Amino acid sequence: MNILISAGPTREAIDPVRFLTNRSSGKMGYAIAEAAVNAGHHVTLVSGPVTLESPPGLSEFVPVESAAQMAEAVKSRFNGMGLTIMCAAVADYRPAVCHSSKLKKSEGNLILELERTEDILKTLGSRKQPNQILVGFAAETDQMRSHAMEKLKQKNLDWIVANQVGVADRGFASDNNAATLFGRDGTVLELPLMSKSELAHHILSAVVPVR
Ligand code: PMT
Repeated sequence: MNILISAGPTREAIDPVRFLTNRSSGKMGYAIAEAAVNAGHHVTLVSGPVTLESPPGLSEFVPVESAAQMAEAVKSRFNGMGLTIMCAAVADYRPAVCHSSKLKKSEGNLILELERTEDILKTLGSRKQPNQILVGFAAETDQMRSHAMEKLKQKNLDWIVANQVGVADRGFASDNNAATLFGRDGTVLELPLMSKSELAHHILSAVVPVR
């Protein structure tokens, strides 16, 4: 199967030396990519800036930096994919203006105006064909179930992997994670705390159709 996976954070430039980003290390997405390669799939990994080595055996590795670059990389490859998993922590907002030279400090506060980025997953959901499976992640600090179900419906997904963030032993940057998978057919699969590598295998087993 051709599988497209996104991983890592994005960086949204403020000026040549500063950017807005988030705590994603790429570990979860890279673990899924590795598990998919080991299961014999053709895997394309689109990755924001991380310090991890890309897993051996990928069909394609596409490094990107900003949400706009991630959108371009993912959307241009989406048509050929049987399964797409958006694990990247894509910025929802970017600075409305990227200054061409370093912003100088002055007395008083600085107000940054932010504008929305494209919701890549929602675009993919609107383009999805019946033979394509689309999986999103939901990173939540509270009301995990209701927020995840809302994303599943709004973005026309087949599965959403809901995970808790903002706690030390799971989510961002940890080697371990726990998740609840919600399927569009009503399936709910609880995956307790385990290594991201083990969790990746469980996620793939759930979302890759049995032939
Ligand atoms: O990288 P790690 O340190 O291992 O951490 C793993 C993780 C916590 C980042 C990962 O498990 C995870 O939850 N990834 C999704 C993070 C996220 O952006 O969640 P969200 O609930 O804000 O977004 C929902 C979905 O929409 C995600 O699939 C996201 O990729 C997608 N999205 C979000 C914004 C945007 N502009 N475009 C998108 O496609």
